[in-house]
Amino acid sequence: MSRCYHLPLRIANHLRSPYKQIMSRDTDFLVIGSGIAGLSYALEVARLGTVTIVTKKGRAESNTNYAQGGIAGVMSATDSVAGYSEDTLKAGVGLCHPEIVKIVAQESPEAIEWLVNLGVAFSRQASGDLDLGQEGGHSERRIVHAKDQTGAMIEQALLEAIRQHPNIELLEDHFAIDLITQHKIDPKGTGPDRCLGAYVLERETGNVETVRSHLTLLAAGGAGKVYLYTSNPDIATGDGMAMAYRAGAQIANLEFVQFHPTCLFHPEAKSFLISEAIRGEGGILRLPNGEPFMKQYDDRAELAPRDIVARAIDAEIKKGGFDCVWLDITDRPASWIKERFPMIFEKCLGYGIDITQQPIPVVPAAHYFCGGILTDDQGHTDIGQLYVVGESACTGLHGANRLASNSLLEAVVFARRAAHMSSEEIKNKPAQHPTLPPWNSGTATDSDEQVVITQNWDEIRQLMWNYVGIVRSNKRLERARRRIA
Ligand code: SIN
Repeated sequence: MSRCYHLPLRIANHLRSPYKQIMSRDTDFLVIGSGIAGLSYALEVARLGTVTIVTKKGRAESNTNYAQGGIAGVMSATDSVAGYSEDTLKAGVGLCHPEIVKIVAQESPEAIEWLVNLGVAFSRQASGDLDLGQEGGHSERRIVHAKDQTGAMIEQALLEAIRQHPNIELLEDHFAIDLITQHKIDPKGTGPDRCLGAYVLERETGNVETVRSHLTLLAAGGAGKVYLYTSNPDIATGDGMAMAYRAGAQIANLEFVQFHPTCLFHPEAKSFLISEAIRGEGGILRLPNGEPFMKQYDDRAELAPRDIVARAIDAEIKKGGFDCVWLDITDRPASWIKERFPMIFEKCLGYGIDITQQPIPVVPAAHYFCGGILTDDQGHTDIGQLYVVGESACTGLHGANRLASNSLLEAVVFARRAAHMSSEEIKNKPAQHPTLPPWNSGTATDSDEQVVITQNWDEIRQLMWNYVGIVRSNKRLERARRRIA
Protein backbone atom coordinates (compact mmCIF):
# COMPACT_ATOMS: atom_id res chain seq x y z
CA MET A 1 0.00 0.00 0.00
CA SER A 2 1.43 3.39 -0.86
CA ARG A 3 0.53 6.69 0.76
CA CYS A 4 -1.51 9.29 -0.99
CA TYR A 5 -0.38 12.83 -1.67
CA HIS A 6 -1.90 15.57 -3.74
CA LEU A 7 -0.37 17.05 -6.84
CA PRO A 8 -0.29 19.36 -8.57
CA LEU A 9 -0.89 22.44 -6.48
CA ARG A 10 -3.35 24.77 -8.07
CA ILE A 11 -1.22 27.82 -7.32
CA ALA A 12 0.99 27.17 -10.29
CA ASN A 13 -1.95 27.31 -12.67
CA HIS A 14 -2.90 30.76 -11.55
CA LEU A 15 0.60 32.06 -11.87
CA ARG A 16 0.43 31.16 -15.54
CA SER A 17 -2.21 33.76 -16.30
CA PRO A 18 -0.60 36.95 -17.63
CA TYR A 19 -0.30 39.49 -14.85
CA LYS A 20 -2.21 42.69 -15.33
CA GLN A 21 -1.80 45.61 -12.99
CA ILE A 22 -5.19 47.22 -12.63
CA MET A 23 -5.85 49.01 -9.45
CA SER A 24 -4.73 49.83 -6.00
CA ARG A 25 -6.50 49.52 -2.69
CA ASP A 26 -5.78 51.43 0.51
CA THR A 27 -6.21 50.13 4.02
CA ASP A 28 -4.97 50.88 7.51
CA PHE A 29 -4.18 47.26 8.30
CA LEU A 30 -3.36 44.60 5.73
CA VAL A 31 -3.61 41.04 7.03
CA ILE A 32 -2.17 38.24 4.90
CA GLY A 33 -3.75 34.92 5.87
CA SER A 34 -7.08 33.90 7.39
CA GLY A 35 -6.14 31.39 10.10
CA ILE A 36 -6.36 31.98 13.84
CA ALA A 37 -3.45 34.45 13.88
CA GLY A 38 -4.68 36.72 11.08
CA LEU A 39 -8.32 36.72 12.14
CA SER A 40 -7.56 37.35 15.83
CA TYR A 41 -5.33 40.30 14.96
CA ALA A 42 -7.91 41.67 12.49
CA LEU A 43 -10.64 41.62 15.13
CA GLU A 44 -8.45 43.35 17.68
CA VAL A 45 -7.33 46.20 15.38
CA ALA A 46 -10.63 46.74 13.56
CA ARG A 47 -11.81 49.32 16.11
CA LEU A 48 -8.82 51.48 15.09
CA GLY A 49 -9.25 51.60 11.33
CA THR A 50 -9.97 49.73 8.14
CA VAL A 51 -8.74 46.15 7.83
CA THR A 52 -8.23 44.17 4.61
CA ILE A 53 -7.65 40.43 4.93
CA VAL A 54 -6.34 38.62 1.86
CA THR A 55 -6.43 34.85 1.72
CA LYS A 56 -5.29 32.76 -1.19
CA LYS A 57 -8.18 30.28 -1.17
CA GLY A 58 -11.49 30.07 0.67
CA ARG A 59 -11.67 31.94 4.00
CA ALA A 60 -11.64 28.81 6.17
CA GLU A 61 -8.81 27.02 4.34
CA SER A 62 -5.97 27.28 6.83
CA ASN A 63 -3.93 25.00 9.09
CA THR A 64 -6.07 26.25 11.99
CA ASN A 65 -9.09 24.57 10.52
CA TYR A 66 -7.34 21.18 10.66
CA ALA A 67 -6.01 21.45 14.23
CA GLN A 68 -7.78 18.75 16.18
CA GLY A 69 -6.25 18.43 19.64
CA GLY A 70 -6.70 21.82 21.21
CA ILE A 71 -5.20 24.89 22.76
CA ALA A 72 -2.96 24.57 25.81
CA GLY A 73 -3.31 26.88 28.81
CA VAL A 74 -2.67 27.17 32.52
CA MET A 75 -6.29 26.55 33.39
CA SER A 76 -6.56 24.45 36.54
CA ALA A 77 -5.85 24.93 40.23
CA THR A 78 -3.20 22.20 40.13
CA ASP A 79 -1.35 23.78 37.20
CA SER A 80 1.07 26.70 37.23
CA VAL A 81 2.97 29.05 34.93
CA ALA A 82 6.17 27.36 36.12
CA GLY A 83 4.86 23.86 35.30
CA TYR A 84 3.65 24.81 31.84
CA SER A 85 6.92 26.65 31.17
CA GLU A 86 9.01 23.69 32.23
CA ASP A 87 7.10 21.34 29.89
CA THR A 88 7.47 23.77 26.97
CA LEU A 89 11.19 24.25 27.62
CA LYS A 90 11.78 20.50 27.87
CA ALA A 91 9.88 19.78 24.65
CA GLY A 92 11.89 22.55 22.90
CA VAL A 93 15.13 20.74 23.83
CA GLY A 94 16.92 23.75 25.30
CA LEU A 95 16.26 26.12 22.40
CA CYS A 96 13.16 28.00 23.58
CA HIS A 97 13.47 31.57 24.80
CA PRO A 98 12.48 31.28 28.49
CA GLU A 99 11.12 34.82 28.72
CA ILE A 100 8.80 34.21 25.73
CA VAL A 101 7.66 30.90 27.22
CA LYS A 102 6.79 32.69 30.47
CA ILE A 103 4.84 35.42 28.67
CA VAL A 104 2.77 32.85 26.78
CA ALA A 105 2.11 30.83 29.94
CA GLN A 106 1.06 33.91 31.88
CA GLU A 107 -1.24 35.18 29.16
CA SER A 108 -2.77 31.78 28.30
CA PRO A 109 -5.87 32.03 30.55
CA GLU A 110 -6.74 35.45 29.13
CA ALA A 111 -6.23 34.27 25.55
CA ILE A 112 -8.56 31.31 26.09
CA GLU A 113 -11.10 33.54 27.83
CA TRP A 114 -11.00 35.83 24.78
CA LEU A 115 -11.94 32.86 22.57
CA VAL A 116 -14.68 31.77 24.98
CA ASN A 117 -16.14 35.29 24.84
CA LEU A 118 -16.14 35.09 21.05
CA GLY A 119 -18.42 32.10 21.40
CA VAL A 120 -16.06 29.17 20.70
CA ALA A 121 -17.93 26.03 21.80
CA PHE A 122 -15.20 24.32 23.85
CA SER A 123 -16.02 20.96 25.46
CA ARG A 124 -17.17 21.21 29.08
CA GLN A 125 -17.67 18.81 31.95
CA ALA A 126 -21.10 18.27 33.53
CA SER A 127 -20.12 20.93 36.12
CA GLY A 128 -19.77 23.48 33.31
CA ASP A 129 -15.99 23.72 33.76
CA LEU A 130 -13.83 23.44 30.66
CA ASP A 131 -12.88 19.82 29.95
CA LEU A 132 -9.07 19.68 30.00
CA GLY A 133 -7.40 17.08 27.80
CA GLN A 134 -3.99 15.39 28.12
CA GLU A 135 -1.34 15.37 25.39
CA GLY A 136 2.29 14.31 24.99
CA GLY A 137 4.95 16.33 26.83
CA HIS A 138 2.43 17.89 29.25
CA SER A 139 2.76 16.98 32.93
CA GLU A 140 -0.81 18.22 33.54
CA ARG A 141 -4.22 18.07 31.91
CA ARG A 142 -4.29 21.50 30.29
CA ILE A 143 -5.65 21.13 26.75
CA VAL A 144 -8.83 23.12 26.15
CA HIS A 145 -10.60 21.49 23.22
CA ALA A 146 -13.82 21.22 21.24
CA LYS A 147 -13.98 17.42 21.07
CA ASP A 148 -11.56 16.65 18.20
CA GLN A 149 -12.36 19.71 16.08
CA THR A 150 -10.88 22.54 18.10
CA GLY A 151 -9.32 24.43 15.20
CA ALA A 152 -12.46 24.29 13.08
CA MET A 153 -14.61 25.58 15.96
CA ILE A 154 -12.22 28.46 16.61
CA GLU A 155 -12.04 29.33 12.91
CA GLN A 156 -15.84 29.32 12.67
CA ALA A 157 -16.29 31.67 15.64
CA LEU A 158 -13.60 34.05 14.37
CA LEU A 159 -15.05 34.14 10.85
CA GLU A 160 -18.51 34.89 12.21
CA ALA A 161 -17.15 37.81 14.25
CA ILE A 162 -15.21 39.05 11.19
CA ARG A 163 -18.34 38.81 9.03
CA GLN A 164 -20.21 41.08 11.40
CA HIS A 165 -17.50 43.73 11.63
CA PRO A 166 -18.10 46.78 9.41
CA ASN A 167 -14.39 47.75 9.28
CA ILE A 168 -13.15 44.41 7.95
CA GLU A 169 -13.18 43.21 4.35
CA LEU A 170 -12.04 39.68 3.59
CA LEU A 171 -10.88 38.94 0.05
CA GLU A 172 -10.86 35.26 -0.86
CA ASP A 173 -8.76 33.86 -3.72
CA HIS A 174 -6.39 36.80 -3.34
CA PHE A 175 -2.79 35.61 -3.29
CA ALA A 176 -0.16 37.94 -1.79
CA ILE A 177 2.83 37.79 -4.15
CA ASP A 178 5.32 40.17 -2.64
CA LEU A 179 5.71 42.67 0.17
CA ILE A 180 6.34 46.26 -0.86
CA THR A 181 9.10 47.82 1.20
CA GLN A 182 10.77 51.20 1.23
CA HIS A 183 14.12 49.65 0.26
CA LYS A 184 12.62 47.84 -2.71
CA ILE A 185 11.10 50.98 -4.19
CA ASP A 186 14.12 53.10 -3.26
CA PRO A 187 17.18 50.81 -3.22
CA LYS A 188 19.53 53.73 -2.60
CA GLY A 189 17.56 54.85 0.49
CA THR A 190 19.56 54.74 3.68
CA GLY A 191 16.94 54.91 6.43
CA PRO A 192 15.54 51.84 8.17
CA ASP A 193 13.36 49.68 5.98
CA ARG A 194 9.58 49.55 6.42
CA CYS A 195 6.70 47.70 4.84
CA LEU A 196 4.23 49.74 2.81
CA GLY A 197 1.84 47.03 1.67
CA ALA A 198 1.84 44.14 -0.76
CA TYR A 199 1.16 43.14 -4.35
CA VAL A 200 -1.82 40.83 -4.41
CA LEU A 201 -2.92 38.59 -7.27
CA GLU A 202 -6.65 38.18 -7.75
CA ARG A 203 -6.60 34.60 -8.89
CA GLU A 204 -9.77 34.61 -10.90
CA THR A 205 -8.88 37.56 -13.13
CA GLY A 206 -5.08 37.48 -13.06
CA ASN A 207 -5.03 41.13 -11.95
CA VAL A 208 -2.34 42.25 -9.55
CA GLU A 209 -3.48 44.91 -7.12
CA THR A 210 -1.18 47.21 -5.18
CA VAL A 211 -2.50 47.16 -1.63
CA ARG A 212 -1.18 50.11 0.35
CA SER A 213 -1.28 49.69 4.11
CA HIS A 214 -0.01 51.54 7.14
CA LEU A 215 0.65 48.29 8.99
CA THR A 216 0.94 44.78 7.60
CA LEU A 217 0.50 41.48 9.44
CA LEU A 218 1.86 38.38 7.81
CA ALA A 219 0.00 35.34 9.12
CA ALA A 220 0.41 33.04 6.15
CA GLY A 221 1.14 29.79 7.98
CA GLY A 222 3.80 27.17 7.40
CA ALA A 223 5.31 25.12 4.60
CA GLY A 224 4.34 21.51 5.23
CA LYS A 225 3.63 21.01 1.52
CA VAL A 226 7.35 21.03 0.72
CA TYR A 227 7.23 17.48 2.07
CA LEU A 228 5.81 14.51 0.24
CA TYR A 229 3.76 13.52 3.27
CA THR A 230 2.20 16.16 5.48
CA SER A 231 -0.80 16.68 7.71
CA ASN A 232 -1.13 20.20 6.22
CA PRO A 233 -3.64 21.33 3.61
CA ASP A 234 -2.36 22.26 0.12
CA ILE A 235 -2.13 25.95 0.98
CA ALA A 236 0.84 25.42 3.33
CA THR A 237 3.49 26.34 0.77
CA GLY A 238 5.66 28.77 2.74
CA ASP A 239 5.06 31.73 0.44
CA GLY A 240 4.60 34.07 3.45
CA MET A 241 7.99 33.15 4.86
CA ALA A 242 9.53 33.44 1.39
CA MET A 243 8.06 36.92 0.88
CA ALA A 244 9.51 38.16 4.14
CA TYR A 245 12.88 36.58 3.34
CA ARG A 246 12.97 38.31 -0.05
CA ALA A 247 12.14 41.58 1.72
CA GLY A 248 15.21 41.09 3.94
CA ALA A 249 13.55 40.00 7.19
CA GLN A 250 15.57 37.69 9.43
CA ILE A 251 14.58 34.04 9.40
CA ALA A 252 15.43 31.63 12.23
CA ASN A 253 15.18 27.93 13.16
CA LEU A 254 13.66 26.76 9.87
CA GLU A 255 15.50 23.47 10.20
CA PHE A 256 13.24 22.50 13.08
CA VAL A 257 10.36 20.87 11.28
CA GLN A 258 7.96 19.00 13.51
CA PHE A 259 6.78 15.63 12.24
CA HIS A 260 3.47 14.60 13.74
CA PRO A 261 3.92 10.98 14.87
CA THR A 262 0.47 9.75 13.94
CA CYS A 263 -1.14 10.37 10.57
CA LEU A 264 -3.49 7.81 9.08
CA PHE A 265 -1.74 5.34 6.79
CA HIS A 266 -4.21 4.68 4.01
CA PRO A 267 -3.86 5.07 0.22
CA GLU A 268 -6.73 7.57 0.04
CA ALA A 269 -6.37 9.37 3.36
CA LYS A 270 -3.80 12.00 2.38
CA SER A 271 -1.98 11.88 5.75
CA PHE A 272 -5.14 12.60 7.75
CA LEU A 273 -4.13 13.59 11.28
CA ILE A 274 -4.87 11.24 14.16
CA SER A 275 -4.77 13.64 17.08
CA GLU A 276 -2.11 13.56 19.75
CA ALA A 277 -5.07 13.51 22.15
CA ILE A 278 -5.64 9.83 21.28
CA ARG A 279 -2.28 8.99 22.83
CA GLY A 280 -3.03 11.49 25.61
CA GLU A 281 -6.19 9.60 26.47
CA GLY A 282 -4.56 6.17 26.61
CA GLY A 283 -3.80 5.14 23.00
CA ILE A 284 -0.89 2.68 22.77
CA LEU A 285 1.53 2.43 19.84
CA ARG A 286 2.10 -1.15 18.74
CA LEU A 287 4.23 -3.03 16.22
CA PRO A 288 2.41 -5.19 13.65
CA ASN A 289 2.73 -8.16 16.06
CA GLY A 290 0.87 -6.18 18.74
CA GLU A 291 3.91 -5.39 20.91
CA PRO A 292 4.07 -1.90 22.46
CA PHE A 293 7.47 -0.26 21.87
CA MET A 294 7.52 3.33 23.18
CA LYS A 295 8.87 2.43 26.67
CA GLN A 296 12.15 1.41 25.01
CA TYR A 297 12.57 4.97 23.77
CA ASP A 298 11.34 7.13 26.66
CA ASP A 299 10.01 6.63 30.19
CA ARG A 300 6.98 8.73 29.28
CA ALA A 301 6.23 6.21 26.51
CA GLU A 302 3.27 7.42 24.37
CA LEU A 303 3.26 10.72 26.32
CA ALA A 304 6.77 11.72 25.26
CA PRO A 305 7.00 14.88 23.09
CA ARG A 306 6.39 14.51 19.36
CA ASP A 307 10.01 14.56 18.19
CA ILE A 308 10.80 11.53 20.35
CA VAL A 309 7.68 9.60 19.33
CA ALA A 310 8.12 10.39 15.62
CA ARG A 311 11.78 9.25 15.69
CA ALA A 312 10.82 6.07 17.55
CA ILE A 313 8.16 5.20 14.96
CA ASP A 314 10.55 6.02 12.11
CA ALA A 315 13.21 3.76 13.66
CA GLU A 316 10.78 0.86 14.15
CA ILE A 317 9.40 1.18 10.62
CA LYS A 318 12.93 1.17 9.17
CA LYS A 319 14.17 -1.66 11.42
CA GLY A 320 11.21 -3.95 10.75
CA GLY A 321 10.60 -2.91 7.13
CA PHE A 322 6.98 -2.12 8.04
CA ASP A 323 4.63 0.20 6.18
CA CYS A 324 3.27 1.63 9.44
CA VAL A 325 2.76 1.04 13.15
CA TRP A 326 -0.58 0.77 14.95
CA LEU A 327 -2.27 3.12 17.40
CA ASP A 328 -4.63 1.27 19.69
CA ILE A 329 -7.36 3.00 21.75
CA THR A 330 -9.68 -0.02 21.88
CA ASP A 331 -9.20 -0.35 25.66
CA ARG A 332 -11.49 2.66 26.14
CA PRO A 333 -15.28 2.12 25.94
CA ALA A 334 -16.68 2.50 22.41
CA SER A 335 -19.28 5.06 23.51
CA TRP A 336 -16.58 7.22 25.12
CA ILE A 337 -14.39 7.07 22.00
CA LYS A 338 -17.28 8.12 19.76
CA GLU A 339 -18.18 11.02 22.08
CA ARG A 340 -14.59 12.27 22.56
CA PHE A 341 -13.30 11.74 18.99
CA PRO A 342 -16.38 11.89 16.74
CA MET A 343 -14.59 13.26 13.68
CA ILE A 344 -11.67 10.82 13.81
CA PHE A 345 -14.11 7.96 14.42
CA GLU A 346 -16.24 8.89 11.40
CA LYS A 347 -13.30 9.58 9.13
CA CYS A 348 -11.59 6.26 9.92
CA LEU A 349 -14.88 4.39 9.59
CA GLY A 350 -15.14 5.88 6.10
CA TYR A 351 -11.88 4.08 5.29
CA GLY A 352 -13.16 0.82 6.79
CA ILE A 353 -11.40 1.19 10.18
CA ASP A 354 -13.58 1.03 13.30
CA ILE A 355 -11.28 2.62 15.89
CA THR A 356 -13.42 1.30 18.77
CA GLN A 357 -12.63 -2.26 17.64
CA GLN A 358 -9.29 -2.20 15.84
CA PRO A 359 -5.98 -0.32 15.99
CA ILE A 360 -5.33 2.53 13.55
CA PRO A 361 -2.47 2.23 11.00
CA VAL A 362 -0.29 5.34 11.48
CA VAL A 363 2.91 6.92 10.17
CA PRO A 364 4.63 10.27 10.86
CA ALA A 365 4.19 13.21 8.48
CA ALA A 366 5.48 16.80 8.32
CA HIS A 367 3.25 18.91 10.55
CA TYR A 368 4.66 22.22 11.74
CA PHE A 369 7.55 24.63 11.15
CA CYS A 370 8.94 25.57 14.59
CA GLY A 371 11.03 28.36 13.07
CA GLY A 372 10.08 31.20 10.77
CA ILE A 373 10.41 34.96 10.51
CA LEU A 374 12.12 36.32 13.59
CA THR A 375 9.94 38.55 15.76
CA ASP A 376 10.23 40.32 19.09
CA ASP A 377 7.85 39.76 21.99
CA GLN A 378 5.20 41.89 20.27
CA GLY A 379 5.25 40.05 16.95
CA HIS A 380 7.27 42.81 15.29
CA THR A 381 9.94 41.95 12.71
CA ASP A 382 13.14 43.82 11.91
CA ILE A 383 11.29 45.54 9.05
CA GLY A 384 9.28 48.55 10.26
CA GLN A 385 5.46 48.32 10.05
CA LEU A 386 5.61 44.57 9.47
CA TYR A 387 4.32 42.10 12.05
CA VAL A 388 4.32 38.31 11.78
CA VAL A 389 2.22 35.97 13.92
CA GLY A 390 1.44 32.24 13.86
CA GLU A 391 3.36 29.48 12.14
CA SER A 392 5.17 31.94 9.83
CA ALA A 393 6.82 33.50 12.90
CA CYS A 394 9.70 32.46 15.09
CA THR A 395 8.92 34.04 18.46
CA GLY A 396 11.21 31.74 20.42
CA LEU A 397 8.37 29.79 22.06
CA HIS A 398 8.93 26.45 20.36
CA GLY A 399 12.69 25.99 20.28
CA ALA A 400 13.64 22.81 18.44
CA ASN A 401 10.30 21.07 18.93
CA ARG A 402 6.86 22.49 19.67
CA LEU A 403 4.92 21.22 22.67
CA ALA A 404 1.53 19.81 21.60
CA SER A 405 -1.31 22.35 21.37
CA ASN A 406 1.02 25.33 21.75
CA SER A 407 0.49 26.64 18.22
CA LEU A 408 -3.08 27.93 18.59
CA LEU A 409 -2.13 29.45 21.93
CA GLU A 410 0.93 31.20 20.51
CA ALA A 411 -1.17 32.60 17.65
CA VAL A 412 -3.80 34.16 19.96
CA VAL A 413 -1.30 35.51 22.49
CA PHE A 414 0.89 37.14 19.83
CA ALA A 415 -2.02 38.36 17.68
CA ARG A 416 -3.29 40.26 20.72
CA ARG A 417 0.18 41.54 21.58
CA ALA A 418 0.81 42.65 17.99
CA ALA A 419 -2.60 44.36 17.94
CA HIS A 420 -1.77 46.19 21.15
CA MET A 421 1.53 47.43 19.69
CA SER A 422 -0.22 48.30 16.41
CA SER A 423 -2.76 50.42 18.24
CA GLU A 424 0.11 52.65 19.40
CA GLU A 425 1.87 52.63 16.04
CA ILE A 426 -1.22 53.51 14.01
CA LYS A 427 -1.56 56.77 15.93
CA ASN A 428 1.46 58.04 13.96
CA LYS A 429 0.15 57.08 10.53
CA PRO A 430 0.80 59.68 7.81
CA ALA A 431 -2.17 61.51 6.33
CA GLN A 432 -1.62 59.79 2.99
CA HIS A 433 -0.16 56.54 1.73
CA PRO A 434 3.03 57.00 -0.33
CA THR A 435 2.83 56.60 -4.11
CA LEU A 436 3.88 53.05 -5.00
CA PRO A 437 4.99 51.66 -8.34
CA PRO A 438 2.67 49.16 -10.02
CA TRP A 439 3.56 45.48 -10.09
CA ASN A 440 6.21 44.60 -12.62
CA SER A 441 6.59 40.99 -13.77
CA GLY A 442 10.20 41.69 -14.78
CA THR A 443 11.63 39.02 -17.03
CA ALA A 444 9.21 36.33 -15.88
CA THR A 445 7.44 34.53 -18.69
CA ASP A 446 4.72 31.93 -18.76
CA SER A 447 5.93 28.39 -18.94
CA ASP A 448 4.30 26.87 -21.98
CA GLU A 449 3.88 23.53 -20.26
CA GLN A 450 2.51 23.05 -16.79
CA VAL A 451 4.52 19.87 -16.38
CA VAL A 452 7.76 21.79 -15.73
CA ILE A 453 6.20 23.25 -12.61
CA THR A 454 4.59 20.07 -11.36
CA GLN A 455 7.86 18.21 -11.94
CA ASN A 456 9.71 20.77 -9.77
CA TRP A 457 7.13 20.37 -7.03
CA ASP A 458 7.40 16.59 -7.26
CA GLU A 459 11.16 16.66 -7.02
CA ILE A 460 11.25 19.06 -4.09
CA ARG A 461 8.71 17.08 -2.08
CA GLN A 462 10.38 13.75 -2.72
CA LEU A 463 13.81 15.12 -1.96
CA MET A 464 12.70 16.89 1.23
CA TRP A 465 11.04 13.70 2.45
CA ASN A 466 13.99 11.44 1.69
CA TYR A 467 16.93 13.76 2.46
CA VAL A 468 15.60 16.39 4.90
CA GLY A 469 13.21 14.21 6.88
CA ILE A 470 12.84 13.01 10.45
CA VAL A 471 16.42 11.78 10.80
CA ARG A 472 19.08 13.63 8.77
CA SER A 473 22.71 13.12 7.82
CA ASN A 474 25.25 15.61 6.47
CA LYS A 475 25.56 13.55 3.31
CA ARG A 476 21.84 13.62 2.57
CA LEU A 477 21.56 17.31 3.43
CA GLU A 478 24.46 18.16 1.09
CA ARG A 479 22.81 16.17 -1.65
CA ALA A 480 19.51 17.99 -1.07
CA ARG A 481 21.24 21.35 -1.27
CA ARG A 482 22.90 20.45 -4.56
CA ARG A 483 19.69 19.19 -6.10
CA ILE A 484 17.66 22.23 -5.04
CA ALA A 485 20.33 24.64 -6.28
C1 SIN B 1 -3.12 17.21 17.20
O1 SIN B 1 -4.30 17.21 17.50
O2 SIN B 1 -2.40 16.24 17.42
C2 SIN B 1 -2.52 18.43 16.50
C3 SIN B 1 -2.57 19.64 17.32
C4 SIN B 1 -1.22 20.32 17.38
O3 SIN B 1 -0.53 20.37 16.36
O4 SIN B 1 -0.79 20.75 18.45
